[in-house]
Amino acid sequence: MTEKATAPVEGANDLSMAVLNAIQNPVILVDENGFVAFANWEAESFFGASANHLARHDISAFIPFGSPLLTLIEQVRERRAAVNEYRVDLSSPRLGADKLVDLYVAPVLSQPGSVVIVFQERSMADKIDRQLTHRAAARSVTGLASMLAHEIKNPLSGIRGAAQLLETSVNDEDRALTRLICDETDRIVSLVDRMEVFSDERPVDRLPLNIHAVLDHVKAIAKAGFARRIRISEHYDPSLPPVFANRDQLVQVFLNLIKNAAEAIGDRADGEILLTTAYRPGIRLSVAGTREKISLPLEFCVHDNGPGVPSDLLPHLFDPFITTKTNGSGLGLALVAKIIGGHGGIVECDSQHSRTTFRVLMPASKGLAADDETPMTKGTNG
Ligand SMILES: Nc1ncnc2c1ncn2[C@@H]1O[C@H](COP(=O)(O)OP(=O)(O)O)[C@@H](O)[C@H]1O
Ligand SMILES: [Mg+2]
Repeated sequence: MTEKATAPVEGANDLSMAVLNAIQNPVILVDENGFVAFANWEAESFFGASANHLARHDISAFIPFGSPLLTLIEQVRERRAAVNEYRVDLSSPRLGADKLVDLYVAPVLSQPGSVVIVFQERSMADKIDRQLTHRAAARSVTGLASMLAHEIKNPLSGIRGAAQLLETSVNDEDRALTRLICDETDRIVSLVDRMEVFSDERPVDRLPLNIHAVLDHVKAIAKAGFARRIRISEHYDPSLPPVFANRDQLVQVFLNLIKNAAEAIGDRADGEILLTTAYRPGIRLSVAGTREKISLPLEFCVHDNGPGVPSDLLPHLFDPFITTKTNGSGLGLALVAKIIGGHGGIVECDSQHSRTTFRVLMPASKGLAADDETPMTKGTNG
């Protein structure tokens, strides 16, 4: 068999390099001897080594001993077909902890024995996934909420009215029962009311807000009530630019988060809630299916040292009706996710034993510098 020599296309090499370097996923080529013959820029930063350094070593020098990636490479060489493997753990002192990746390994047919590996870092994928799930969850509650409002509240007010009428004509013993009917219908009405906020799709007024004023306001509410005995401290970045948001909704978000933190802490004497803010311009998320990269530099966190979120709850935490509390509605975090999503941000939770963090990431308001005083003071009256 004769190989046809292909004439090099002018600039093709530069162009392919530029394309590979533009990809935000680490891409490497492992040759038939196991050497890393090519690495794009993202791969250099992923492995913490230059392409030249990578090229002098066997791939096994860079990944944990016995990693399934080595077996995958073998498989692909043998079968000459691409494979995907999800959630492969590449954590090592070299690559860092929590390096969960999805792998795409494909043979390079023109160079027998060589394979291309594309890494997709899982934490990013999870963030995007989770965010899309939250939005879907919030949407599904939206329909349910408006249905409930119509179909349940009207009959309930009839039931309540009838019980109140009865109350006037029954003996004391039975009056306890009519009271029970009234109390329980009230409870359902208030649940439906709480759900109604989900069906409210009206655009909300937004202003540039000083988040610290919002947090201090929520802290004052908490200290006056449910968190009376819990220490709440804060660690604010004073130079944080304003966030473009609806004040009432943000108050609701942090009230829900701080209330959950206080409930998790319970009566513990050493319970503590910490509020932190930070500016992290480096956080950029790719939006699946688009070329868009969103930057969410404003970070607001609520930390607590309660017992943590049960690990089986974590994947569903922001879904509606997820609760571990006897009197919980499970709507608090679903509402948080809906509001933050509506503001173009995301919310996520990290929870380890006695260290739980709810992290809200928000876009910076356009055209407002950190020292833009006027709109800051306008939006904050708390
Ligand atoms: N800071 C936290 N620490 C531990 N668990 C939490 C925390 N925040 C939320 N959770 C868990 O998430 C569940 C859902 O919270 P939420 O949506 O606010 O509903 P609810 O508070 O009505 O239960 C809670 O029942 C609890 O199990
Ligand atoms: Mg709650």
